[in-house]
Amino acid sequence: MRIIKVKDYAEMSRKTANLISAQLVMKPDSVLGLATGSTPVGAYRELIERYESGDLDFGHVTTVNLDEYKGLPRENEQSYYRFMHENLFDHINISPDRVHLPDGMNPDTAAECEAYEKLIRSLGGIDLQLLGLGHDGHIGFNEPAAEFPRETHCVDLQERTIEANKRFFASADEVPRQAYTMGIGTIMAARKIVMAVSGADKAEIAAKALLGPVTPEIPASILQFHPDVTVIADEAALSECVFQTV
Ligand code: F6R
Repeated sequence: MRIIKVKDYAEMSRKTANLISAQLVMKPDSVLGLATGSTPVGAYRELIERYESGDLDFGHVTTVNLDEYKGLPRENEQSYYRFMHENLFDHINISPDRVHLPDGMNPDTAAECEAYEKLIRSLGGIDLQLLGLGHDGHIGFNEPAAEFPRETHCVDLQERTIEANKRFFASADEVPRQAYTMGIGTIMAARKIVMAVSGADKAEIAAKALLGPVTPEIPASILQFHPDVTVIADEAALSECVFQTV
């Protein structure tokens, strides 16, 4: 695991965009695994600017998102489908048929999960997976649990996650209680992983996830076992990490 310490959110966003840009320069038809949330918005803005300046081309890129709320139609303002279009897809030359998220409106949970796993396999797997870090250590919607979930599945969201996400809804009651998410196995199968972390409110969980024991109680801790993970974290997020130096 490489940990790159940066000054602040702006630098984290630029460095994250640098890694994604490098991936696309080296492999223009990359399969990118993408995340929603506050963390990647700045990096997406950077990618849009680089597309506008002619430095990046998304014409051959395919994307698969980590997760989607169950029961929210795509048109809902809070769907991750909408989020991704507003924050990235609508501003770059990505082909609409190469953009994939779980279908939150598929009531057949087993069929949806199987179809999403099959889709990722049919694309040849994920070249680079972008992640944010949840306050309880979740990645995607893989919440703390007794074991690491392997494949795409449907989860009941935990109270803390509902609390954290309610800022996007009129009230906590409107936050969906379930979501489809890639499993930890799906994420770990990505060839490269980039996790971006920003802010003092992530410092405690960042220390546990990056330096603590690997445990499904802190789902992101599994990343310590991935062969190609780059964490781009700002000073505030790393403020509780005590690194050993020799
Ligand atoms: C989003 C996702 C989540 C977020 C995490 C951090 O698709 O899968 O795991 O990455 O909740 O969210 P922010 O970036 O809002 O702090």
